[in-house]
Amino acid sequence: MITSALPYANGPKHIGHLAGAYLPADIYVRYLRAKKEDVVYVCGSDEHGAAITIQAIKENTTPRAIVDKYHALLKSNMANLGISFDIYHRTSEPIHHQTAQEFFTALNDKGDLIQKETEQFYDEEAKSFLADRYIIGTCPVCGNENAYGDQCEKCGTSLSPDQLINPRSTLSGKAPSKKSTTHWFLPLDKHEGFLRDWILNQHKDDWKTNVLGQCKSWMDLGLQPRAVTRDLDWGVPLPPNVDGGKGKVLYVWFDAPIGYISATRQWAIDNNKDWKPYWQDKDTKLVHFIGKDNIVFHAIIFPVMLKLHGNILPDNVPSNEFMNLEGDKMSTSRGWSIEMDDYINDFVKKENGGDMMVDALRYYLTQIAPETKDSEFTWKGFQDAVNSELVSIFGNYVNRTFVLMHKLCKGKVPPLHETLLDDADKKIFADILETKNRIENLLETYKFRDALYEVIDLARKGNKYMQDKQPWIVAKTLDTNPDNQKLIDNCLHICLQLTANLTVLINPFLPFTAKKMCYMLKVVDKMLDWENAGKPKLLSVGYSLRAPELLFRKIEDEEVKQQVEKLNNKKMAMENAALKSADEKDATLATVKPEIQFDDFAKIDLKVATIISASKVEKADKLLKLEVDLGFEKRTIVSGIAMHFTPEEIVGKQVVVVANLAPRKMRGIESNGMILMAEDKSGKLHFVSPQTVIDAGSNVS
Ligand code: 2FM
Ligand code: ZN
Repeated sequence: MITSALPYANGPKHIGHLAGAYLPADIYVRYLRAKKEDVVYVCGSDEHGAAITIQAIKENTTPRAIVDKYHALLKSNMANLGISFDIYHRTSEPIHHQTAQEFFTALNDKGDLIQKETEQFYDEEAKSFLADRYIIGTCPVCGNENAYGDQCEKCGTSLSPDQLINPRSTLSGKAPSKKSTTHWFLPLDKHEGFLRDWILNQHKDDWKTNVLGQCKSWMDLGLQPRAVTRDLDWGVPLPPNVDGGKGKVLYVWFDAPIGYISATRQWAIDNNKDWKPYWQDKDTKLVHFIGKDNIVFHAIIFPVMLKLHGNILPDNVPSNEFMNLEGDKMSTSRGWSIEMDDYINDFVKKENGGDMMVDALRYYLTQIAPETKDSEFTWKGFQDAVNSELVSIFGNYVNRTFVLMHKLCKGKVPPLHETLLDDADKKIFADILETKNRIENLLETYKFRDALYEVIDLARKGNKYMQDKQPWIVAKTLDTNPDNQKLIDNCLHICLQLTANLTVLINPFLPFTAKKMCYMLKVVDKMLDWENAGKPKLLSVGYSLRAPELLFRKIEDEEVKQQVEKLNNKKMAMENAALKSADEKDATLATVKPEIQFDDFAKIDLKVATIISASKVEKADKLLKLEVDLGFEKRTIVSGIAMHFTPEEIVGKQVVVVANLAPRKMRGIESNGMILMAEDKSGKLHFVSPQTVIDAGSNVS
């Protein structure tokens, strides 16, 4: 059971994410599939939490619109980059809501959760409890002044809002107050003994040191009960039968990892399988691939949940550090990133056979994977890796082998003349087997960089072998010594068997390349079964092969220059846009419309109305149709607030309406009046309402 962290569907994801949690998992899964293991690889979009609602405010739209848009983008990006999930699910699906609610109920019913009244941060101005993400302040660890209440993005530390120095609300910009509310908590402190033994003792030798280190320092700070519910309207609602649960949702970090289980359930339904063994059978090996900012959730909190629920625990949580970019931290919001989508558009979709560029990226990202410490992507580094390793070593070796086989062996696999084998020939067979064994060990211990190095190193050995044997020189002696054809045969037979082995070995890393090599070798995909790796006789003698095809192309200096320029321009554009929008907002807030007389104002009839019903207007994303009660009559008003409010949440609210505005038709509906709204600096709309409920129809003046 293999999982990759569910990415938030709140925007495009960059190649650092790809290198962190998706590519290594994909390599591992492809290896397991080649070994014929019963493996399921699940992932999906994380569609709840403040990451989504904040983005909806930014894009002036609804959370639903945000997740629909970015789920589609992420799903297609991952597929384009060869990430071979068995299912890419989403946490807004009903089956996920059901699974998460059942999970909560099971724990709650057993008394594994505790209910506590707590003080939560509250924005008096916005009249809203604040999710951790809605609070920013100074990170106590690194001093970053814009750390979030759940995490500092600069140093990666996970935080709670209480730890922030000078906290402020992102809704109003003001210091938040505290207000009491009841929530459900997972008492992690009760499980400290289990966690310490399971992580620091049982897994001390097989988990990565970065994972063990983070877990230990987190536990040393003292485990606290963690709230697993929130006062929000976007998320998985608490099960309806839970007392006091109305209006509350599961905390996103409670529901998201359960998303792995709901994805498995959906996969099982689609494939007519039973999902349970994958999460309950003690012989199942569960592995979570994640980035370092997700460690405590996958190594501490989710395991406690799994244990309480009677599920298996992860066997390993291979986590990567971060990948920087051209000397700075990769960040989509600051414009300093290479989005997967951009790479796909610039390199994959543009060219014929763009798949080779997918493998080029997969190669470089694996070669510089931040497995033990932060690493760095540079376009020059990408060019060097592709040109001097993929093209010059691997591609060149395969190409020379094919060309010479066609030229010197009639396009067929030549025979092997055993009696003529020398030490160099025998050494290649031994190298193949040893390399395969080393790769296996490395893959099983999640050392993908080193495993990939071994594949290239084997190709390098192949090049050296061919260079030493020089069959093209031997060919010149054939006139005088026709028996030398046997030496040529042996060299190319060995080079071809090595090529077939390279195909099997490279497959988990560069699947598109392996496929092309299978085509050139005229073998079926079956040859890619891992049991074939290390074997000396994968190709039959006399078998005729296709002409070589280009496996990789060189990256030109001009392309490197363009990409670096593009990166700098993007960052500059982002900075300018941020400055401009702040300026524009301040400018409109600071200006006042031309003066009017009291009589002008008195012409406007403002009244308090109560919203009695609300519904979406078909084919109009921004409009809601409202029925309002004005005391003496009911009216229909069409209002452009659908991107800010759902119909359900506004029914019953009191608002101020312009009651004598001339009727206007919108989308065929006559609107009789207008609702007053206030727009804050961030573009969010707020109703203008009386402080307490008063008679509908009351005059406002
Ligand atoms: O950090 C993130 O991007 C989270 N969306 C990861 C969730 S992983 C899992 F729990 F689903
Ligand atoms: Zn920090």
